[in-house]
Amino acid sequence: MAILIALALVAVQISTKVQLTSGSSSLSFHSMAAIQIVQSMRALKTLGPEQCEHLPGLSDHQKAWCRQHHVFMQPIAQGTRLGLEECSRQFHYQRWNCPMNNSMAIQNALRLDTAEAAFLQSIQSAGMMQAVARVCSRGNVTEWCGCDDSPQYRAGQRGSSSGATSLSSANRPAQGEPTGAADATAGKFVWGGCGDNVDTGYAYGRQFLGDGQVFSPTTSQPNEVASQLMAQQNHEAGRQAVRASIRRTCKCIGLTGACTSKICWRSLPTIQIVGEILMENYRNARQVKVKAKKNALRLTPLDRDEGVKTRIVATELSYVRQSPDYCRPNTTLSISGTRGRQCQELSTGDDGCELLCCGRGYYAKRTVTTKKCKCRFHWCCRVVCDQCISAEETFHCN
Ligand SMILES: *[C@@H]1O[C@H](CO)[C@@H](O)[C@H](O)[C@H]1NC(C)=O
Ligand SMILES: *[C@@H]1O[C@H](CO)[C@@H](O)[C@H](O)[C@H]1NC(C)=O
Ligand SMILES: *[C@@H]1O[C@H](CO)[C@@H](O)[C@H](O)[C@H]1NC(C)=O
Repeated sequence: MAILIALALVAVQISTKVQLTSGSSSLSFHSMAAIQIVQSMRALKTLGPEQCEHLPGLSDHQKAWCRQHHVFMQPIAQGTRLGLEECSRQFHYQRWNCPMNNSMAIQNALRLDTAEAAFLQSIQSAGMMQAVARVCSRGNVTEWCGCDDSPQYRAGQRGSSSGATSLSSANRPAQGEPTGAADATAGKFVWGGCGDNVDTGYAYGRQFLGDGQVFSPTTSQPNEVASQLMAQQNHEAGRQAVRASIRRTCKCIGLTGACTSKICWRSLPTIQIVGEILMENYRNARQVKVKAKKNALRLTPLDRDEGVKTRIVATELSYVRQSPDYCRPNTTLSISGTRGRQCQELSTGDDGCELLCCGRGYYAKRTVTTKKCKCRFHWCCRVVCDQCISAEETFHCN
């Protein structure tokens, strides 16, 4: 069963490669593998190391990682799916509406290297980081990881003054994260309980996606690595969004209700909160190109040429190619167009009929429903209701 599904997905992958010859299809697209795993993992409750070979879309690196960390494949698939669900929520009223149930459309969207691909890469990465962090703290994979204990370590053993310095490495922005220093001066609580294992989620998500690759200008073609560097940038932005919204959750301890002391742990945000952050980043996404700098190829924003001096930073989303307008169907790109989509007649925003329908106009659709209403209780004992007819009008694109 699993193998059949895997083969079906490989077939899909081959056909999309044939259709879209532009771009660097010879390179592996690591977040594309994630969406395929979501599909195939549905048929598998648990996955043994021997099944890693048969998961479609995995690169050699990912197959090797999977064999060693097979217990994390289910959370990775679940997290990716959670990310995709959030994507379709965020894009519900956009011309491109993140058709999460159409695996081919998602893969093609990723392949286009647009801002929409950037959002997909970041939300998938965020979802898998969260799912790994949670599977650790729920105690399902105790031979690998458990509860988060790093704040205890920072605040306790290191002492309050060095707490802040332990956060200073590049991948750990202090923003939104409880630091030993700040909290120890506030006093009145101890780290404890069982926090979500954010650091393991971060590390394993990054490893699975194969991020952190460096490309040398002497051995790689800039055009070929653009997609890879873009994916790495956006995966990192997804993880940064999770880190930036980690909260401290506390519980009172002691016998009285006075809450004189508390025990606190780090907890993950909901995917909706991460989705909001990434949607904001998507609106400010920057177009990039690849440039050789010192010994490595790096992304550099195009607006730098127009005098904007800022570099691209880890939290930003980046894209290589301009998006199509998504107005009309294009079967090659699995774009369905906006005909028939529901829009808001009076809105001037993205969900408004003018923008969503690309100026083609719209029509009203009336749906009449009959419901029980004005129900009364008659002594004794029955309820009598009227039949009410209600008409709802919705608007849809031509
Ligand atoms: C995708 O499919 C799932 C389950 O089949 C369904 O619950 C969900 O609403 C679908 N999502 C969209 C955006 O159509
Ligand atoms: C974790 O373990 C519980 C209880 O054994 C199980 O119900 C749950 O599905 C497991 N979760 C994952 C993600 O494996
Ligand atoms: C679909 O997109 C491709 C690639 O951009 C383009 O070459 C083709 O003309 C488009 N087809 C239609 C029907 O617009």
